[in-house]
Amino acid sequence: MRRFLLFILLVLVHIPIVSHAADIHDAAMTGDVAAITAALDAGAGIDESDGTATPLYFAVWMGHIEAAKLLIERGADVNAQTSGGPPLMAAVGTGKIDLLKLLLERDADPNSNRGGEFALHVAVTLDCLDCVKALVEAGADVNAKTMDGKTPLHLAKSRGQREVADYLLSHGVVLPTPAPISMKLATADVEKGRTYFTRRCTSCHNVEPQGGNKLGPNLWSVVGRDKASVANMRYSDTLLGWEGVWTYEDLNRYLFGPMLTTPGVKMETPGVPDDTERVNLIAYLRTLSDKPIPLP
Ligand code: HEC
Repeated sequence: MRRFLLFILLVLVHIPIVSHAADIHDAAMTGDVAAITAALDAGAGIDESDGTATPLYFAVWMGHIEAAKLLIERGADVNAQTSGGPPLMAAVGTGKIDLLKLLLERDADPNSNRGGEFALHVAVTLDCLDCVKALVEAGADVNAKTMDGKTPLHLAKSRGQREVADYLLSHGVVLPTPAPISMKLATADVEKGRTYFTRRCTSCHNVEPQGGNKLGPNLWSVVGRDKASVANMRYSDTLLGWEGVWTYEDLNRYLFGPMLTTPGVKMETPGVPDDTERVNLIAYLRTLSDKPIPLP
């Protein structure tokens, strides 16, 4: 009998908690404002996760602005983390500009991210110029990098999104320019450059005169060669649009960090940010020729 009573007690205590939680997430998903209010009044936690996300995240994800407003008014944490990131990621991921603006007005972090991918990157990927503008106006970092080093501008240029690219360029994008290296080439360590190349570049580039292209073009005679000029190679618009031959300083700029200095390139590698390594590498590239061009 005691055990039976205990059982009844557990059922009575347990069911309401479970069902409130379920109610508020279901209500948020369907945008049922009355049901959200009822669940909250009955004691459901405003930021309670159903194991995946919070009620606000669900309301935003499904595009229910009234439900989102209610949840925020009732104290929902606009920056609460969920398995999909904070609610702002749901707004930008579904391209819902009204919800994005609502969240930003209510102090959502414009630099929200999920797994190292920022809201601004998602907005650019979806080619949503209004989303990009809303985020940048709210203070999103236009130079933010994903874990693999991609900036919003690089993504926009890779995708041929002119308007987005122009907007970003006029709103604080910084293209780094490494210090000149020409005068350091005479004393560079060509052997170290060769070793570096073998380790980091041969997976994508042949250097024999008769070698074909790999993922990247053959680099025999690259110094002094017209940029983006190897036959049967599909270059990016960025490289095709960069006039002139490969000078030492152009290589310096490009190799410093291709996606940073020359956004839109198809060589999506971190580059060679270390000055000495880059100088050695360029001195080695110079030797890939029947007639290496003179040192400066
Ligand atoms: C993951 C593959 C990959 C790796 C690794 C890589 N590259 Fe590239 N590289 C490319 C691609 C693809 C292009 C064409 C870029 C474009 O069209 O925007 C390219 C282009 C170039 C160019 C311009 C050539 C031309 O014909 O105009 C140079 C120079 C270059 N790479 C040097 C290097 C060096 C040096 C390294 C090592 C530090 C390296 N690359 C590592 C893929 C790669």
